[in-house]
Amino acid sequence: MRIPEHKIEEVRSAANIVDIIAPYVQLRKRGRNFIGLCPFHSEKTPSFTVSEDKQIFHCFGCHAGGNVFKFLMEYEKISFIESVQQLAGQLGIELEVQESEEPETQSEQEILYDINTAAARYFSDNLLNHPDGEVARQYFEKRRIKVQTMRAFGLGYAFPGWEFFVNFARDKNIDLERAVQLGLIGSSNDGRLFDKFSGRIIFPIFSPNGRVIAFAGRILENKEGTAKYLNSPESQIYYKGKILYGLSHAKDEIRRTDKAILVEGYMDLISLYQNGIKNVVAVSGTALTEDQVLLLSRYTKNIVLLFDSDAAGIKASMRSIELLLRKDFDIRIASLPRGDDPDSYVNKHGKDKFDVMIKRAQNFLEFQSAYFESQGMFEDPAKLTEAIRELVKPLAIISDELKRTILLKTIAKKFNLREMLLEAELNKALRTISRHKISSTLTSELERKRKDLSAEEQIRKNVSLVIYNLERQIIKLLVEGNDETIALIINHIHPDDFELEIHKRIYSLIFDSIHQGENVQMSVLIEQLEDEAVQSYLLELSLEKYSISKNWEELLPGQSMVKIILKDTIDTVRKFKLLRIDSLIASNFQKMEESDSEEINIEMMKANRELEEKKRRIRDELSAGVGK
Ligand code: UTP
Ligand code: MN
Repeated sequence: MRIPEHKIEEVRSAANIVDIIAPYVQLRKRGRNFIGLCPFHSEKTPSFTVSEDKQIFHCFGCHAGGNVFKFLMEYEKISFIESVQQLAGQLGIELEVQESEEPETQSEQEILYDINTAAARYFSDNLLNHPDGEVARQYFEKRRIKVQTMRAFGLGYAFPGWEFFVNFARDKNIDLERAVQLGLIGSSNDGRLFDKFSGRIIFPIFSPNGRVIAFAGRILENKEGTAKYLNSPESQIYYKGKILYGLSHAKDEIRRTDKAILVEGYMDLISLYQNGIKNVVAVSGTALTEDQVLLLSRYTKNIVLLFDSDAAGIKASMRSIELLLRKDFDIRIASLPRGDDPDSYVNKHGKDKFDVMIKRAQNFLEFQSAYFESQGMFEDPAKLTEAIRELVKPLAIISDELKRTILLKTIAKKFNLREMLLEAELNKALRTISRHKISSTLTSELERKRKDLSAEEQIRKNVSLVIYNLERQIIKLLVEGNDETIALIINHIHPDDFELEIHKRIYSLIFDSIHQGENVQMSVLIEQLEDEAVQSYLLELSLEKYSISKNWEELLPGQSMVKIILKDTIDTVRKFKLLRIDSLIASNFQKMEESDSEEINIEMMKANRELEEKKRRIRDELSAGVGK
C-alpha cells in the first residue's frame, strides 16, 4: 500500500506526540518539555524527553529518538506505513488506498517477509495435506499435538532431500539469493543450492505482530551428532535476542492476566497453549537478553520462570533474575519435578495441576536460598558468608527502596541474621553497581558513531572548541528560532561556512528546505536525515535547554524572550562570521610566511585587506547594540 504524501502530512499534523506517547510512558512536565522513563532501555532516572512544540522525542540515555511515527515504529516494532495507518486509525483519518499504475516498490524487508510467508505456507502444506507428510503427522500425533494447534502455530515439515524447497522456490520465482540469506537454502562450495531444513519439523518464528521472521527445524528422531534444532540465522528481519517465541500468540492473554510464564522450548510453549495455558513465551535456546526483558515489560511486569530443574535450568534462572530485576519485574520461580519439562508435565498431569504448580512458585529469594541450601552452603560457615553475599546482590538492583527493605528483612528473618549486617553487605553491593553503569550495545554503537561525527571530528580536524560551539549554536538557533531569526541566519551563513561535516549536513538540509519555501519543522526534518547518528545528534541539540549567556539577563532586564533570542542570534552570527574571516586571514598569513614569492605576498596582503574590510561591514551590519 502506498499512502499519499499529503495524507501522511495530515496524520502528522493531527497527532500530538505527547498524547500519543502518554499511554505508553508516564510523562511529567519539566520546563517546556515532558520527561519520563525511557521505554527503550533500562533506567531509573528519566532521560526520555518529549517536546510538544517540536513534536519530537529523544532519550538522552540511549539516544533513541524521532517523530511520532518513529516512536510507534520502535515501540510496536512496525513499519513506517503501519505506523501511519495505526495513527490514522486512532485519529479517525481515512486513508484512501491509491491504486497506482506503476508496480509498488517493495522495501527489502517486505520482500524478505514475503519469502518467509511463502516458505511457511509450503512447509505447512507438506505437513497437513501431502501424502509424504505422513511421517511428520505421526510424529506430532505421538507428541499429542492436534491439527488445530499445528494450524495455529503454522507448524510444517520439510521433506528429506536436497532440493524440494529449492525447486519450490524456483517455481515461485522466489529470489534464491535472498532465500540463502534467510537461511532457507544453503549453498555448497561448488555453488550447488540445497534445502537447509531438509527432513525437519518446522516451527515458524513470528514477530510480535505475527509476521514470519525466521524458522526453527527439529529433527524427527534424536540422533547424536546432529543438532536437535536448527535455527535461521539473523537477518534484516530477525534479531535473535530481541524476539520471544510465541509472543504474538500470547500477548493478549499476558495483558489480560498481567502475568507471563517463561519457558525454554518451542514444544513447551505449544503444548501449554494447547492445554489452555496461553500466557506463555519461550526464550528458545539462548539466555534471556535485556532486549527480551524490555519487550516483555510492555505487556506485564510479573513473570514466572519455568525452566528445567537441571543444573543448566537453575543457572539460566539465576542469570535471568538480575536482568528482570533491573526492569522492576516481580519474579517467581516454579520448579518442575526432575526429568520433566513443561511439555511433558502438562501432558502427564493436565492443566489444573499445572496451574497449582504455577501458584506455588517461589519468589526469587526463596528459590535462591533453597538452592544454596541444597548445595550445603548453609552448613559451612565460610560458605554461608558467600551465600549471604549472593543473596543480597540482587537486592541492590531493585530500584524501589521499600521493596528492597522488605526483602532484606525477609532474608534476615529466614537466616536469623542481624539486619545491620545485611545492610552493610547491601551497601557494598550498591556501590559496585553504581560503578558499572548499565549500557546496551546498541547505545554504545550509536554513541561511537555520534562522537565520530562531532567531538572526534572536531579533534581530528583540529577545529577549535570555539568554532565547534558556535556552529552548534547556529543550528540550535535555527531550529529554535522564529521567521526573523531564521531569515537572518540563512541570509548570512552558507552551508560551506561550516567546518564540521555533521553541522554542514544538518545545516544544508535546513538551508535547502527554507530555500524551497518550506517551514522548518523538526518532526519533518528528522525524517529526512538518513543517518541515525546525525538524527540523534540533532534531536539532542534541539532539546537541550536554550542557553544564552547569563550576561543577557543582566544587560537586558525585563526583555521578552523573542527579543533576547534575536539579539543572541545577531551576536552569534556576527561572531561566527568574524571568526571564519579571521581564520581565512590567518591562513593567508601562513601562506605568506611559507612562500618567498613577492607576487603571492602582495596577493595575500590584498586579500587580507579585503577581508578586514568585510569584517568592518559585518560589524556594522550585525550590531545588536550590545557587546562588541
Ligand atoms: P531441549 O533440548 O530442552 O528441547 O531444548 P525441547 O524444547 O524439550 O524439545 P523437544 O521437546 O525435545 O522437542 C530447549 C530449547 O532449546 C533450543 C530450542 O529452542 C529448544 O526448544 N535448542 C535446543 C536449540 O535451539 N537447538 C538445539 O540443538 C537444542
Ligand atoms: Mn521437551
